[in-house]
Amino acid sequence: MMIRPRRLRRTSTIRRMARETYIRVDDLIYPLFVKHGKGDREPIPSMVGHYRLSVDELVKETAEVLSLGIPGVILFGLPKKKDELGSEAYARDGIVQQAVAAVKDKVPKLVVLTDACLCEYTDHGHCGIIKDGLVDNDATLEILSRTALSHAEAGADFVAPSDMMDGRVRAIRDTLDRGGFKDTGILAYAVKYASSFYGPFREAADCAPKFGDRASYQMDPANAREALKEASIDVEEGADIIMIKPALPYLDIVQQVRANINLPVAAYNVSGEYAMVKAADQRGWIEGERVMMEMLLSIKRAGADLILTYFAKEAAKLLIEHEKIYAES
Ligand code: PBG
Repeated sequence: MMIRPRRLRRTSTIRRMARETYIRVDDLIYPLFVKHGKGDREPIPSMVGHYRLSVDELVKETAEVLSLGIPGVILFGLPKKKDELGSEAYARDGIVQQAVAAVKDKVPKLVVLTDACLCEYTDHGHCGIIKDGLVDNDATLEILSRTALSHAEAGADFVAPSDMMDGRVRAIRDTLDRGGFKDTGILAYAVKYASSFYGPFREAADCAPKFGDRASYQMDPANAREALKEASIDVEEGADIIMIKPALPYLDIVQQVRANINLPVAAYNVSGEYAMVKAADQRGWIEGERVMMEMLLSIKRAGADLILTYFAKEAAKLLIEHEKIYAES
């Protein structure tokens, strides 16, 4: 007798039966960049198919996102003016606050998450307040909490702190609760590495640090035990969803966090991961669509429940198409 695993691979229908992992449209969250102005769709050169959108354009985009069945978007803002404290991050009429209110008004069913960070709004490009040339943890917590509260006031369903300051989930939770927003959730960028895969995003949001780097607050790519520590702290401090970022170079971390934490786990398939696929696809060096689906599947297989990905719309369209083909065959 020969053991024949190939029996389960013989036909496409048998392979469907034997398949262990799926990507669902429900798993996807689409990142979007919003700017001041009207009728503006400014392409982002290093992120093919992505734009800096004025609020009216963003609303149209989010309607399309929901019509594809994608449950949520995460918003990143481009302020009019950057300053030392990143004051547009927490301004009542800041760009993200306007965007959230508009989307919640016109596309109320869509889950709106907001990136709560300062680096897009500070003139120095760091994710926190600078004191004596260093990023000051505790001074940042206050500004960050104000930012999160202003997003909640605008109607955000979840705020997503991405700064990696210590104690920020608790500080934000307390501020939201005191402000009467006990139902506003926190998706914590709990395990965020000091990665070189954020390059295109920093171009899109114009938020590269003007001096130094982010290594004193984001994690060392070499560390895995520390990832579990960061994840448990954020659970204890009141996070609702735990995120790992980036995704592909850290699938081992996704798997370990999934095995150790009883909250939904998200992974952020970041800008550099997206840009590499697009660039190679444009040169005809890889089949972009297939590589995209294989990547997203690997993130699910590692254990992520949710994937934040610039591919969300394309993947959703393909998944809908596949469903149709299966139904007809
Ligand atoms: C803000 C933030 C960054 C990303 C998400 N939120 C950039 C950074 O930390 O430098 C990166 C997302 C991506 O690359 O797609 N702190």
